[in-house]
Amino acid sequence: MREQFQFNYDLLTDWKELPIEDFKLVQVAYSAMDRAYAPYSEFLVGAALLMEDGTIVEGNNQENVAFPSGMCAERVALFYAGATYPKGVVKTICIVAKGALMPASFLLSPCGSCRQVLLESENRQRKAIRVIVVNQDMRTLVLDSAKDLLPFGFGK
Ligand code: THU
Repeated sequence: MREQFQFNYDLLTDWKELPIEDFKLVQVAYSAMDRAYAPYSEFLVGAALLMEDGTIVEGNNQENVAFPSGMCAERVALFYAGATYPKGVVKTICIVAKGALMPASFLLSPCGSCRQVLLESENRQRKAIRVIVVNQDMRTLVLDSAKDLLPFGFGK
């Protein structure tokens, strides 16, 4: 039998159309992005997590001359949140990026490892995490749950 995965997401032409809470989170993600350490790829990524109690956790990519030792912005933010607020619940993650590595028209979304970590965070807190991805051309994806990014994900 042929089966299929299906999920709904919103695609906005500009992040400025987002509701105020998300709008503010995008602004925080951009400021985090500007502090990224990415001298090798020159691709700057910022992430901002909105926790249920209103706390905002920031992350950005941290590269290393030994390339695999670096870390993506999403995981920097998620691991910091896990380390600092182990019982915290992440409501939304917002990701922004800029750099010549990807053409501006390319629709970005988190890498496979970050998807796996997002899924674990969702399972751990037993609550979906909304995912907002702002592209370089301002098009903005809004997903209801990180699990939509990882069909057949490995997890409980
Ligand atoms: N990067 C992220 O921060 N998040 C992703 O989801 C994909 C890639 C970073 C890793 C590296 O520092 C740079 O972007 C180029 O791959």
